[in-house]
Amino acid sequence: LRHNTVLQQEIRLWKEKRNAVILAHNYELPEIQDIADVLGDSLALARAAAKTDADVIVFCGVHFMAETAAILNPEKTVLLPDLEAGCSLADSINVEQLKAWKAEHPGAVVVSYVNTSAGVKAESDYCCTSSNAVQVVHSIPVDQEILFLPDMFLGSYVQRVTGRENMHIWMGECHVHAGITPTDVNNVAREYPDADLLIHPECGCSTSSMYMLADGLLPQDKTHLLSTGGMLNYAKASSANTFIVATETGILHQMEKANPGKKFIAANPHAVCPFMKKITLHNVLEALQEMNHVIEVPSEIRARAKTPIDRMIAIGS
Ligand code: 13P
Ligand code: SF4
Repeated sequence: LRHNTVLQQEIRLWKEKRNAVILAHNYELPEIQDIADVLGDSLALARAAAKTDADVIVFCGVHFMAETAAILNPEKTVLLPDLEAGCSLADSINVEQLKAWKAEHPGAVVVSYVNTSAGVKAESDYCCTSSNAVQVVHSIPVDQEILFLPDMFLGSYVQRVTGRENMHIWMGECHVHAGITPTDVNNVAREYPDADLLIHPECGCSTSSMYMLADGLLPQDKTHLLSTGGMLNYAKASSANTFIVATETGILHQMEKANPGKKFIAANPHAVCPFMKKITLHNVLEALQEMNHVIEVPSEIRARAKTPIDRMIAIGS
């Protein structure tokens, strides 16, 4: 712990020296969350990246997030402390696959989750995150065919909420969230019958929980499908004492820190994203000292990817 404190102090010094800002996702290791200037969900971090006046953005998250920051800030230096911080969901569709899918549905509007490569974003009309996916789809005329990618669980959640039938969904998944199953949630919910249930729409349990909600098998007032930022806001505002949290477990650090006295239980304690955990105090310090690893997006891709990202940033609260 003392070692962490020393590293955190050094990071703060180097951050000043470089006029840098540290943006961190809610799934990062606790010691990384504790040094973040901005800690948030994908949408909050993209918005923070769009308006920062720092010269350097150290992205404590995964590659597609750093790429999004680089697209929004071509004149700034965006650093990702470990290049192996990828994303299994972003890898579930590539540019060639998207082009082939578009060719099967000429004229369809492409809505891409922010968990995609810059190349895929460049082939898209809109980006969205879990916190504004419903609003993004609502903003598209009802008779317009949509290709929604790459997450099938988020896609089916959005389809159910919006009632859109002309929406095709790519069959991708995040291996971490897909591993949070209906059985996991049912078991924990039985153990804590009074707990509020917070579910990330990327979860393998999200579709079944929507059916269960509709059938009255889950309580309407205690079950919520939310982004990670939405979960944090909900936990703070709620008068409940116990919460079952169905998402990557890194979020529990922030939830517990912000809500002393409340109890948070992971729906699946093994739901740990190995990519998010690649970022350590050591490699954050090294990134600032050595100015590595710089994330750059070729200008031709950047120009095309910026419009769907700008739309994402503008839509939703
Ligand atoms: P949000 O924080 O936007 O809910 O995203 C979840 C996620 O899986 C990011 O990779
Ligand atoms: Fe990607 Fe899933 Fe990790 Fe998020 S939790 S970065 S979607 S692999």
